[in-house]
Amino acid sequence: MKTIRDFDLKGKKVFIRVDFNVPLEGGVIQDDTRIIEALPTIEYALKAGGKVILCSHLGRPKGKRVPELSLKPVYEYLKSKLNVPVKYLEDIVGDVADKELANLKEGEILLLENVRFYEGETKNDPEFAKILSRFVDVYINDAFSVCHRAHASVVGVAQLAQERGIGFLTEKELKYLTRVIGRPERPLYAIVGGSKVSTKIGVLKNLLPRVDKLIIGGAMANTFLLAQGYNVGASLVEREYVEVAKEIIKEAKEQEVKIYLPVDVAVERGVEVVDVTLKEIEDGDIIYDIGEETIQYFSLALEGAKTVIWNGPLGYFEKEPFHYGTVSVARRVAGLPATTVAGGGDTLSALKLAGVLTAFSHTSTAGGAFLEYLEGKELPGLAVLK
Ligand code: 3PG
Repeated sequence: MKTIRDFDLKGKKVFIRVDFNVPLEGGVIQDDTRIIEALPTIEYALKAGGKVILCSHLGRPKGKRVPELSLKPVYEYLKSKLNVPVKYLEDIVGDVADKELANLKEGEILLLENVRFYEGETKNDPEFAKILSRFVDVYINDAFSVCHRAHASVVGVAQLAQERGIGFLTEKELKYLTRVIGRPERPLYAIVGGSKVSTKIGVLKNLLPRVDKLIIGGAMANTFLLAQGYNVGASLVEREYVEVAKEIIKEAKEQEVKIYLPVDVAVERGVEVVDVTLKEIEDGDIIYDIGEETIQYFSLALEGAKTVIWNGPLGYFEKEPFHYGTVSVARRVAGLPATTVAGGGDTLSALKLAGVLTAFSHTSTAGGAFLEYLEGKELPGLAVLK
């Protein structure tokens, strides 16, 4: 796969597919991580004399113009952050677009309006890809987090481009993910959490033959506990996935991978939050977090790791004091002398809460794409660049 360093960008239209799908509230950007992470590629293209065209989606407007999902706040943000002329194109179809494109100079940026305002984007419509390709001499994908989407700005337009490659952010994401999945320094331990087993089956099955230990937490652990015959009270559980959980436990045994499940849990009883052992869980109890003993048990299990991959919180971390389990384990992982990689929106929020976001070797900007990569799926946005 080529990278942006491999092309002569001077005087060329450098189309960079970025992921500026950032959280907005009342038109104010709540978290600019994804924009910050894309800046090295943008700055490189500008310095190399490219005419930089930035293309992104925001939310899921379903082919309609939804004012709240306009990229205008990102435009304002870029203008204030960068010391170069930044232009903004409200409609990428038609004469105005042609004029803007003709007037775009080396070292300038043109930000395109939310590409999902057009129906053709999510359909990967060849006609729409053709419209987009007017903006392309060199196609650069710097949006690893959208690579699981076979959309026009990710796949169709890349196919049409004479020259195509990846930017520094996609390169960094791949460097760490291939290291973890392809050739990890061992032992490799995985922590998988979150609320549902059903959304993580692919990840668990793909990770099992690769990891040395598998630590499971979050509400999805409840389904595994139920599969082992424990009463999980009134907790969130997927009864229809108990058989799948049993299958995964069996597969792990066959592959000699030890699965670590909670040994005690935090439940709310009246106004009190108490840690109870698995046998002490009562019918009305709702499990919200792992207990103190489990924190120690998981932490001990993680010792000696050379590589750790983490996706999914270990409890209802959004609600105090149920952040405690995830935050405690996150701090332990951050302190390990190991390559530590985490991904997924909730996971990153929890790491932020723990104050260890930058202590990890790599925190992925991707959610869905990170999961699909862990599932071993080929991502269409990357396949097209090979
Ligand atoms: C993400 O936030 O994971 C990416 O921007 C992809 O967004 P999507 O799930 O709406 O395709």
